[in-house]
Amino acid sequence: MSAAVVEEPGEGPSRSGLPPGPEARSGRLRQRLQQVGLLLDPLGTVAGRFARYGDLYHVASDDGGLWVARHPEHLREVLVTRASSYSKKHTGLRQLARVLGDGLLTSDGASWQRQRRMVQPAFGRARMEGYARVMTEEARAACGAWRPGERLELSHAMMELTLRVVARTLFGHDATGDIQAVSRAMKTFQAELSRPELLPPWVPSPGRWSLRRATETLDGVIRGMIAKRRGQRRDAEAPDLLGILLDARDTEGDGEGLTGTELRDQLVTLFLAGHETTSHALSWTFYLLSQNPSAERALHDELSQVLGGRAPTLSDLDALPYTEQVLKESLRLFPPVYLVIRQAVEETVLGGYRVPAGAEVALWVYHTHRDPRWYPDHGSYRPERFARGEEEKLPRMAWVPFGAGPRACIGRAFAMMEARLLLATIAQRYRLALVPGHAVEPLPRITLVPRHGLPMVPTPRA
Ligand code: HEM
Repeated sequence: MSAAVVEEPGEGPSRSGLPPGPEARSGRLRQRLQQVGLLLDPLGTVAGRFARYGDLYHVASDDGGLWVARHPEHLREVLVTRASSYSKKHTGLRQLARVLGDGLLTSDGASWQRQRRMVQPAFGRARMEGYARVMTEEARAACGAWRPGERLELSHAMMELTLRVVARTLFGHDATGDIQAVSRAMKTFQAELSRPELLPPWVPSPGRWSLRRATETLDGVIRGMIAKRRGQRRDAEAPDLLGILLDARDTEGDGEGLTGTELRDQLVTLFLAGHETTSHALSWTFYLLSQNPSAERALHDELSQVLGGRAPTLSDLDALPYTEQVLKESLRLFPPVYLVIRQAVEETVLGGYRVPAGAEVALWVYHTHRDPRWYPDHGSYRPERFARGEEEKLPRMAWVPFGAGPRACIGRAFAMMEARLLLATIAQRYRLALVPGHAVEPLPRITLVPRHGLPMVPTPRA
């Protein structure tokens, strides 16, 4: 590999050539098959490649090549300092856009900026108190329905709970009647959207058929939500997210309004992005606590001392630092968004190498979070890593479960508040034990999910 240094005005030294990487497979089909091979064990394959080639490697392909990174400084270059050189319209996201359309998560440029401005007020501080009340109420109702000693599928239970929370807080909607349909649709999206497209787009297949059905189901739920709200009086003082978007729909024509498709895309995006990730964060947390009794004990002690059995409120959260550390450590080991991808829209520089326009860059958050350089004994669950005074020692961008830069998660504060309130409410009432002998393994799909689910048994705490 050539490593000659060339000067580039204003950019500092940049190396010519490409970073090291695996041999290129010639031909599109062979490349696709290579991807399928990768899909059998992506976490292991990528870890092996980082070990072999270093922090930044390159996989050649006919469509511009893939750059793969894990170093916090590389993540910063792509997401923060050179963010404007990249777009979100990469191959994987184009798949996701088949369901999400062109909402906040998938759009770019001026359209994204306008959408972000429009949605932001729904996540303002003023709204959080009301959201917090709904969150604890839903958590109490959910675990109130569990039967002590009876096995439950925790990932389903958490999905149902976070779906109900997002529906009530952001859309003022009771999702009871939609849970089964949305859960089935989510399963289809997870299965169909994370596999590479081997067939040309016009070839019908059972996968494509079920994807269309699942999208129609979701659209039906969203249409129902809109129709119900249209029949109600609007709260002009403090509209919720659905109210904000419906008002924007009604002002279409003055340049700032939303078309019907834009409204649909935004609602689907926030409905899905607003519950799926948080539910996995909680499921992984209860699993990790079940495997780490000393962390579980420390959590229970904090909850007993601060809350003494009562429901947590927003103002309790500052007094629950260990609860937050527990969640941060779970998000480190099992980040629901384990991989962030971008496509270069212009020639740029990464790690000193020139990246051509059109190249895709994959940032493996999962591997950044499991790097022993930043996290000694990286496989162990140690919430103390995030204690005050310790967390500050981590390199910048070594913990990025919510992304970074202009496209960082808009729901971060909402999600961290929700996760703490739900965890504090449930863990006060129950211990959850994994069904003995059940194998737990992370499966990287659209998000990082437990491959064989998480069957757990709740036992009431004394
Ligand atoms: C633990 C829970 C969550 C995690 C781990 C998470 C993670 C992320 C990450 C990593 C990104 C950036 C993706 C990228 O740069 O390509 C993102 C973006 C986004 N998230 Fe979250 N998220 C969570 C919860 C939420 C919630 C609760 C909502 C909404 C209620 C939400 C809505 C969004 C939206 C709309 C975007 C796109 C923002 C933009 O591009 O402007 N997320 N999330």
